[in-house]
Amino acid sequence: MTDFLTTPEAPPSTIRVSVAVVESHAPTRERIMGLLGDGVTPFANVEELAARLTGAVPVVAVLGPSCSDDAVLHASERIQREYPLMATILVVDELSTQLLQTALRAGVRDVLALTGESGALAQAVQRVAVSLDQTPRAAVMPAAPVPVTDEPEELPTVDGQVITVFSTKGGAGKSMLSTSLAVELARRSEQPVCLVDADLQFGDVAVMLKLTPHHTIVDAVSVLDRMDPPLLESLLVTHEASGLRVMPAPLEPAFADQVGAAEMVAIVEMLRTFCAYVIVDTPAYFNDVVLGLVEASDRVLLVAGMDIPNIKNVKIGLQTLRLLNTPMEKLLLVLNRANSKVKLDIGEVERTLQIKADALIPSDICVPQAVNKGEPVVLHSPKSGVSRSIQQLADQFIPSDAGRRRK
Ligand SMILES: Nc1ncnc2c1ncn2[C@@H]1O[C@H](COP(=O)(O)OP(=O)(O)OP(=O)(O)O)[C@@H](O)[C@H]1O
Ligand SMILES: [Mg+2]
Repeated sequence: MTDFLTTPEAPPSTIRVSVAVVESHAPTRERIMGLLGDGVTPFANVEELAARLTGAVPVVAVLGPSCSDDAVLHASERIQREYPLMATILVVDELSTQLLQTALRAGVRDVLALTGESGALAQAVQRVAVSLDQTPRAAVMPAAPVPVTDEPEELPTVDGQVITVFSTKGGAGKSMLSTSLAVELARRSEQPVCLVDADLQFGDVAVMLKLTPHHTIVDAVSVLDRMDPPLLESLLVTHEASGLRVMPAPLEPAFADQVGAAEMVAIVEMLRTFCAYVIVDTPAYFNDVVLGLVEASDRVLLVAGMDIPNIKNVKIGLQTLRLLNTPMEKLLLVLNRANSKVKLDIGEVERTLQIKADALIPSDICVPQAVNKGEPVVLHSPKSGVSRSIQQLADQFIPSDAGRRRK
């Protein structure tokens, strides 16, 4: 098998990823190879390919239409589990949602119609090759171990609320708050609750919840034109302790620009059709994606740390939101690390920002302790002042028994 893939879109440095085509029907195999150019190795079936794998070189295997049945997809899933450096793309004669779902559940990265746009297959191979080449070897995940079902599941339709957690200052506590609030809501809700990591370059929601994602938002974007709720649902990873569903950020910062504002909003809009709450963690600056999310959100939690630079930046952030005609009723101000010890008066902060604080979260060592254990603080230290503030904030969305009593 050749060691190199070079397509017209390839970056100047060579990507050391092998490309294989697996198809039993010789003319179809030739046709697929014709779409991919030189340096591609043909195989008649997945067993032949498996016999040649060493596990040392990343391989993108393009599976032809003859592979689009359950038995072959199962076999390819088993091979991927054994060789995590292999990724597969399925080429089919005719695309159907069910086939797409079955394939993605068997760990296939993308599914394309053979009759589709010329160049689309080479681009898909390129995209998967880049991801394999850049993914740290230890972090390469085997195929998603989700059972393949014959029937696509029906998801009950809901009209969920979108809550975006934002701050104009890095380190303000957005990820701590979004993970804990999402976990708290997931525990209280009878319907699904989802957390989306829209900090596309440096998102750490998966790390903060100790999750091993098999898919990220990049996979969702790459199949967006064929997306439906069951398919989107199958790309989410579950936080077992709370039942929270999570859409993780890309594994590498380089993939961030594959997700634009329109794609992000489309994903969030589809999530809200089957999730009661969609909580979105964001980066610490305005970009198209954040602006799109703010617009699409029912509530925006603006997080401010209790120090002068934080308050200054949040004031600028508020001015920007006003300029963008964001309805101020959407905003909830959360003051984080709001202890008396920091010598900043909460009333003064509220006057400066011209809005009242909706939640005050104290500073507590249990937060970094929880983060370092990969646990949300509401589960790690449920009785702490931090957790109680987050529980009270959650009461605004789903009152707990204690919240009802407080009211
Ligand atoms: N109330 C708190 N008490 C103590 N430590 C806190 C508190 N809130 C956040 N931290 C700590 O501050 C750090 C930054 O928090 P977090 O990652 O949630 O911020 P962020 O706004 O998401 O940052 P970024 O802009 O980098 O994404 C974390 O290490 C966390 O442990
Ligand atoms: Mg963060």
